[in-house]
Amino acid sequence: MPHRYPETHVLYRNLARAYPLVIKGEGCWLYDSEGRSYLDACGGAFVACLGHGVSEVVDAMVEQVRRVGYVSGMAFTNQAVEALADTLAELAPGDLNHFYFLSSGSDAIEAALKLARQYWVEQGRSAKQQIVAFAPAYHGNTLMALSLGAREHYKTYFAPWLLEVQRIPAPYSYRCPCRGESRDCPRCSGTVLEEMLLRLGPENVAAFIAEPVGGSSTGAAVPRDDYWRTIREICDRHEVLWIADEVLVGAGRTGTWSALEPYGAVPDIQVLGKGISGGYAPLAAVAAPRRIADVLAAGSTALLHAQTYVHSPAMCAAGAAAITYLRRHGLLARCAAMGRVLHERLQALRGLPYVGDVRGRGLLAGIEFVEDVESRSPFLREQRFAERFTQAAERAGLMVWPNTGQADGVNGDLVMLAPPFTISEAEIDEIVRRFRSALEDMI
Ligand SMILES: Cc1ncc(COP(=O)(O)O)c(C=O)c1O
Repeated sequence: MPHRYPETHVLYRNLARAYPLVIKGEGCWLYDSEGRSYLDACGGAFVACLGHGVSEVVDAMVEQVRRVGYVSGMAFTNQAVEALADTLAELAPGDLNHFYFLSSGSDAIEAALKLARQYWVEQGRSAKQQIVAFAPAYHGNTLMALSLGAREHYKTYFAPWLLEVQRIPAPYSYRCPCRGESRDCPRCSGTVLEEMLLRLGPENVAAFIAEPVGGSSTGAAVPRDDYWRTIREICDRHEVLWIADEVLVGAGRTGTWSALEPYGAVPDIQVLGKGISGGYAPLAAVAAPRRIADVLAAGSTALLHAQTYVHSPAMCAAGAAAITYLRRHGLLARCAAMGRVLHERLQALRGLPYVGDVRGRGLLAGIEFVEDVESRSPFLREQRFAERFTQAAERAGLMVWPNTGQADGVNGDLVMLAPPFTISEAEIDEIVRRFRSALEDMI
């Protein structure tokens, strides 16, 4: 039976597509009911960082669920949430040592924003309500998270329901007028944030939210070395909370637990998701320091973001087990090492038709496609290059993640790679081989 709408009872993500039925995953590979195999080079949606079919994680989850599957976070705490919070406190940067757990990145982004807003209002500073975000940017699909994002095509039907957010250009040197070559460039150095805060009046700004390394929106664009220290200093000087959205790039993806680690800068609030549970259960987290949580503790006494699955044992058990596995098997160091191999091998793509740039850090890579490599001019959106490439890759048995619109808000094509941290050198070579073959299909 073809798995497509309306021939089954699933309202599929794409109502015009026929879906392969995956029946098994093992390591970096997925297998469907027709006997086809797929090299999962993007961990689904940047999620499966431990690889598929890790029985140690499954066993720990089963053990927790057998004892108790669900209790309300209003009435009880539970062993899984306590263990997960303790583990994360050991890994988290700086003073970020208290954690609020939710079941999606979007929920966690909403919670982080509410935490920032409550922090200011509870201190009598209710004028602080503006939020500054990047363009391009993506922070999720619930309404406030969608407001933060700069993907206008996601907003088509919902614009009347969304809030206005102030934007500064993301540090995206490939598309910056200076091409990353000017030390004084306000976009590449981060001083553009200060210009924005002064324009808005910092007394009106609650928070600045951004991804530390670009996720899909800028295709793994890596800001320069001093960028986040500059942002930290600007936020401190103007009393604006800095929220780091590490939903995609955190939990080890760039070769360090936090993508900010190499920058030596600590945000006020950090949001994790995706890889934090390796995909074994939906899980996301908001990390906050005592200096913020204490304001709520002494005031309203609660973050006003109640949801049924906050701190749920089943979901937290997956996170605790996944992180224990990650540490026991040295997978952070492995991600950094294999990331170096991946980026070295990907250099072979430079010079191939349509490959404008190859970038990223750790096991996160973005390959940006352009119509003309010299001028960097993108394909017109109607050509749907990223989507067609992704289909060609799938035909070659390679799963990649496409993104569009990053060049100018409408045009622009890239694909992302984010394989499991357990990937071997031979599998990296296989990614490159299948990538080339998909590209040949496009010529
Ligand atoms: C940077 C970033 N933030 C937030 C989200 C939202 O996470 P979720 O899809 O789990 O709601 C995503 C999802 O892709 C993301 O990439």
